[in-house]
Amino acid sequence: MSMHSDESTTTTLFVNAAQTVTCAGAARARRGAEMRDAGIREGVGVAVQGTRIVAVDTDDMLRRAYPDAHELDCDRGLLAPGFVDSHTHAVFGKARYEEQELRATGVPYLEIARRGGGIHSSVRDLRARSTAELFSLAVPRLAKLASGGVTTVEIKSGYGLSVPDELRTLDVVMQLASALPLRIVGTCLAAHEVPFERRELPDGRTSWIREITHEIYPQAAAASSAQFADVFCEPGVFSLDETRTLMSGAIAAGLRLKLHADELHDGGAAALGAELGAVSVDHLAAISPAGIAALAASQTVATLLPATMLFLGTGRQAPARALIEAGAAVALASDFNPGTAPLQSFPLVLTLAVSELRLSAAEAWIAGTVNGAAALGLAGETGQLAPGFSADLAVHNVEDFRALPYWFGERLCRVAWARGTACHKTG
Ligand code: NIG
Ligand code: FE
Repeated sequence: MSMHSDESTTTTLFVNAAQTVTCAGAARARRGAEMRDAGIREGVGVAVQGTRIVAVDTDDMLRRAYPDAHELDCDRGLLAPGFVDSHTHAVFGKARYEEQELRATGVPYLEIARRGGGIHSSVRDLRARSTAELFSLAVPRLAKLASGGVTTVEIKSGYGLSVPDELRTLDVVMQLASALPLRIVGTCLAAHEVPFERRELPDGRTSWIREITHEIYPQAAAASSAQFADVFCEPGVFSLDETRTLMSGAIAAGLRLKLHADELHDGGAAALGAELGAVSVDHLAAISPAGIAALAASQTVATLLPATMLFLGTGRQAPARALIEAGAAVALASDFNPGTAPLQSFPLVLTLAVSELRLSAAEAWIAGTVNGAAALGLAGETGQLAPGFSADLAVHNVEDFRALPYWFGERLCRVAWARGTACHKTG
């Protein structure tokens, strides 16, 4: 063992960037006007040792401080924090092509589910697959997310909808977390729907809610396969009262809270999430002015998923400007899932944030990094280029931070590192 830890640890310098998006600042969600500053610098690089960022400084200063370091040439590209995709449903089986066309002919999303399609169709499919198969299907999808510069991914269960299938899904999430360099956070979304086979049973809803709170939450928490619990709180899915019961059970089991809130109709879910201290409430396309005020007055992050509204063809988006102007902390995520957002490109989410949600490019960067990290309780760990933070960073083949939302649909990420290890490389 070396007496000098810096002798035994390789230092890598990311140098020769045209521009650097640091997002440096407070290690917490940025709210309101704070979101306008993405810490853009020129001539600045990053030094990485092991899994950590040890310095952010001019290339000259870094070379002087670390003369023996290995250099990674950014080749006049954009150096930035890895994106934090804080809301995905990445463990599933088959695609659901038929529903996109059904919606195009006028059948609404919730009506497809009522007929036994939608989430139920993914549930039937997942239950028929082995754990190993689900793992193998997820790996290339996560590689695609990483190839857009994502270094942290939250993954929800919710296509199992039985005690063993929900726990099995969360086991797959845990296996992915140990097999890949990406940082992966598990969320139990057993309360995604009432299982189809129980819908006609007199105690179908209540027995499912009881199994979730008494069996799934405690077992997922004990196995550490989930850090969060999430509920699809929406008129016609789970009511406010049911959500309250579920969330109390989650808290009792030691899980933190997230919520699918006010996605399609306003049911007061955002305000409930704020009241219960949820780390984030997500979707919010139908949030009311009272919901906006409740979020602005809380620590709860408002996570917006613009790809979902686009893909559903609703012609609506969450009131992002009203949220930011009220002083809320807005995050962005992909919602990657087979039903409403078959999207594996985080840069495209930035495009939608600027063009559809009317965020500035700087606000979109903060929303996809620092605030995504805050939406997972990780604002002190990832989401910014600053000493002490995890070495989660990406180099994009553009010279300006505004170019990433601008060149939409392109694949511009050259390299991404998660926790000091490459998780994506081109060529
Ligand atoms: O975030 N809204 C509920 N859950 C997912 C969609 C799940 C599905 O349709 O498979 C969402 O949009
Ligand atoms: Fe979702």
